[in-house]
Amino acid sequence: MKVQTNISIKKYNTFGIDVQADKLIEVNSVSELITILNKKERFFILGGGSNMLLTKNIKETILHINIKGIEIVKDNKKSVYVEVKAGENWHEFVLWSLKHDFGGVENLSLIPGNVGTCPIQNIGAYGVEVKDTIHQVNVIEIVTNKKVFFKNSDCEFGYRNSIFKNKAKNKYIITSVVFKLTKVKHKLNYNYGAIKNELKAQKIVNPTIQDVSKAIIAIRKLKLPDPKKIGNSGSFFKNPIVDKTLFEKIQNKHIDIPFYQVADLYKIPAGWLIEKAGFKGKRFGDTGVHEKQALVLVNYNAATGKEILALAKKIQSVVKKLFYIDLEMEVNIF
Ligand code: EPU
Repeated sequence: MKVQTNISIKKYNTFGIDVQADKLIEVNSVSELITILNKKERFFILGGGSNMLLTKNIKETILHINIKGIEIVKDNKKSVYVEVKAGENWHEFVLWSLKHDFGGVENLSLIPGNVGTCPIQNIGAYGVEVKDTIHQVNVIEIVTNKKVFFKNSDCEFGYRNSIFKNKAKNKYIITSVVFKLTKVKHKLNYNYGAIKNELKAQKIVNPTIQDVSKAIIAIRKLKLPDPKKIGNSGSFFKNPIVDKTLFEKIQNKHIDIPFYQVADLYKIPAGWLIEKAGFKGKRFGDTGVHEKQALVLVNYNAATGKEILALAKKIQSVVKKLFYIDLEMEVNIF
């Protein structure tokens, strides 16, 4: 356990927002966590800081969950169950899986953040969501200070959503996640246009999970800013889902509108809407909209959370005016 007082949180959030905290406690084990929770204070829980926008100084004591460890807990011919502690970096875990030739998380390569926060927003990319590999989420219940767990089916996973963003919000602290990964007959998922093109460019016909991961890393590096260089939180908004009537109304005006059909509804890339609204690549002081992916808001250096939030609200209002769509923020605002 490490305690720091009066510290800047800039390096603890991928947006690189410089807010102050009175006290930050780095928690390195479940037993330390239980001891601290016994104090019955109100805490601010911080994982990898990759899906948050901080708009003010933090008054509560921050608990920085930094519990480490990766362990195979069960194994059979076809699959392996791996328990990964909450403080492990997500991409490091993906690389560990690839090294052991365990399949299931390769499409989620290079997503920023920690393992403990991946179930909360059900991280997803290139046709795969983390819910597809999660077996169980281990947590501490804050009120009782007891260890409990959520089976996959208890997590109420949805598109960038889970019970931890809703009913279970602020009630539990995730301490580890158990993944079920494949050992043989990996289910490869490379139908996504950009991956197919990347594999073709590399002349790979029968890709392995390692090839798919490499292709995705290459695509992400081209399109998405590296938070270590330009502060960001990945997609700032969710892709909206609209009904047929609204979709056709927009399509009548914009014949080129990209979409994915979800049952009888239409999912539209928010990046396209934001680009059409004229924001792509625009900079306002130290905040802006990324030049290669309009879904990503950035902090060039010294932007405040309030400035980024104001830009997000401006985007929402212009998109609403043009397309009658309410863009929902994916990032948690504090
Ligand atoms: N597009 C534009 N302009 C842009 C960006 C996108 O027109 O500036 C259009 C293009 O037509 C493009 C389509 O949107 O073909 C889809 O774009 P992309 O493949 O980049 O995916 P996305 O829908 O914008 C989602 C996830 C990403 C994930 C990618 C790849 C959400 C909110 N975002 O983005 O997730 O990496 O798919 O699977 O669902 C994240 O959540 O932080 C994230 C980066």
